[in-house]
Amino acid sequence: MKNDIDLRQLKLRYGIVGRDEALDEALHTAVQVARTDLSVLIQGESGVGKEVIPRIIHDFSLRKNKRYIAINCGSIPEGTIDSELFGHEKGAFTSAIGEHEGYFGAADGGTLFLDEVGELPLSTQARLLRVLETGEYIRVGSNEPRHTNARIVAATNVDIPHAIREGRFREDLYYRLCTINIQMPPLRQRHGDAVLLFKKFALDTAAKYNIPEPIRLTPEAEEVVNRYKWPGNIRQLLNITEQLNILSQERTITPQLLAKYGIVPNSDETGIAPLKPKTAGTEHRDYENEIKWLASAVMELRKEVSELSALVHSPHDTTNLSPAPLNQVAPQTTTLAPPNHTIHPASPSAVRPIEDEIQTPEEIVEEDENLNLFEMEKRNILKALQRAHYRRKAAAEDLGISERTLYRKIKDYGIEE
Ligand SMILES: Nc1ncnc2c1ncn2[C@@H]1O[C@H](COP(=O)(O)OP(=O)(O)OP(=O)(O)O)[C@@H](O)[C@H]1O
Ligand SMILES: [Mg+2]
Repeated sequence: MKNDIDLRQLKLRYGIVGRDEALDEALHTAVQVARTDLSVLIQGESGVGKEVIPRIIHDFSLRKNKRYIAINCGSIPEGTIDSELFGHEKGAFTSAIGEHEGYFGAADGGTLFLDEVGELPLSTQARLLRVLETGEYIRVGSNEPRHTNARIVAATNVDIPHAIREGRFREDLYYRLCTINIQMPPLRQRHGDAVLLFKKFALDTAAKYNIPEPIRLTPEAEEVVNRYKWPGNIRQLLNITEQLNILSQERTITPQLLAKYGIVPNSDETGIAPLKPKTAGTEHRDYENEIKWLASAVMELRKEVSELSALVHSPHDTTNLSPAPLNQVAPQTTTLAPPNHTIHPASPSAVRPIEDEIQTPEEIVEEDENLNLFEMEKRNILKALQRAHYRRKAAAEDLGISERTLYRKIKDYGIEE
């Protein structure tokens, strides 16, 4: 399989671009181990392209016609992760109105990809170790062991040996998970691949946004792209290429233009704001930071809100209570609200002619305040991600929240990285 022709076909099939030897080695190993049931751990920095590997393993395995389930362990709240993974019985906890199968049950016979496995709480790690060793697991609220034949593939961008030393990851689980270890190389070590990827992304983005003339690099700019350190790896390169393709008037990209985006040779730090000191990382501390930030955001909004309040409180002009101003607010803000927040932004069809259904000024003000908060938070997250060159860990530290919370918010707000 390690001959060039097969690897070339594999890359074509999965849209993988690059000629680097370490990348080829990783792809080769993925195909080789696919037909075994050995558990695989994929390691590599954030944004290197780890997520394609478990898909290849599944597609080349005898399980390919069974389910492939990919879950991000970092985005599931600690309180529900055991029941999400292992299922629960009816009545196991207050909101457990019915029984739940869980991912290990659902992936029986197929492949379960545990992304960001380094984020699993220690108690869940113990349960996972048991499944890996015996194939058995117990639903939350049950005593009865169940059996699963799910093949486990895991990925992490966390330095697991370091996490073991800090007591955040079980050593026995680490050795059990990485029966097969696949290491994805960082982009800075993949000589020449950054330019190939830039060209691919320039074409892809042009097609996506109907841009008639895709950007191209001068030979000097190619040199810069190859020598820049790309701390956010392929994710960062994709993002920069997309920004340049959409925003640049100049279609020929020079080193000077790249420098405006912080892309200068041999650098990996330009444009990154200094990070706040590491916190203990507990959820409690996390919420404290979040509350502090929200409180300051509320203060900043006071002025805006009181202006709007003055407008809708105008005593003689009842037309101010009509839905019109609300409808002006709604269109650009409706998509910003996370799905689990109970906000009811107005849409053109939400016009309410009956007087007692008209929102009170307080309700309108409150709604506007909420919407602005969400918008501000989303912007804040986007800025932090950009500052951190799309390294989620660094962005989370910058924001003073845990990676878990950041994952959840990226999902909730539908932020595309
Ligand atoms: N060889 C490649 N060719 C084209 N696109 C790629 C390649 N590798 C990765 N990508 C793209 O780069 C982005 C980042 O890849 P991916 O999500 O797999 O990173 P990751 O290693 O899982 O990062 P993290 O640890 O932060 O989750 C994705 O948009 C992916 O589609
Ligand atoms: Mg990933």
